[in-house]
Amino acid sequence: MPLKRIAIYPGSFDPVTNGHLDIVERASKIFDQVIVGVTDHGSKHSLFSIEERVQLFRASLKNPRITVESFKGLLVDYAVKKKACAIIRGLRAVSDFEYEFQMALMNRHLSQQKGDIVEIVYMMPDEKYTYLSSSMIKEVFRLGGDIGRFVPTGVQKALKLKLL
Ligand code: PNS
Repeated sequence: MPLKRIAIYPGSFDPVTNGHLDIVERASKIFDQVIVGVTDHGSKHSLFSIEERVQLFRASLKNPRITVESFKGLLVDYAVKKKACAIIRGLRAVSDFEYEFQMALMNRHLSQQKGDIVEIVYMMPDEKYTYLSSSMIKEVFRLGGDIGRFVPTGVQKALKLKLL
């Protein structure tokens, strides 16, 4: 049987946006399985708990090739544990590049120590999501702006419960 190609799509997803969904759906077309790995960002405080972020992402998906779970520790260790061949990241604009480049090279270095099994793959979202971020969604929502086009309905409801 041919090898199943598994990719990890990691992030803090606080909360998931339509931009994240766009990327993970694209990734599911080129990998047999995509595992969304929800984790805490080292230096960002999260509005939603890790369990809430997993639930919100899961409830926004209908694609059997995509599963959602949380992980702790190094991303590369998680990818090895899941037998993934790739880590997916979305790249929206030039402003993302420096951080992503640094992270990609560090992950590559760590991956080489484990036998070099993981490649880091960047994907561009639909252009209507290039300026979208979870932080911006939270700020716009807090200030009374309409975020309906940018997040799944479950997220909008969850933001109302959390912030209003
Ligand atoms: O969506 P984010 O917050 O930009 O995602 C960042 C994330 C979670 C992918 C990154 O912080 C991460 O990989 N954390 C796991 C710990 C780790 O491996 N850190 C070293 C990365 S070079």
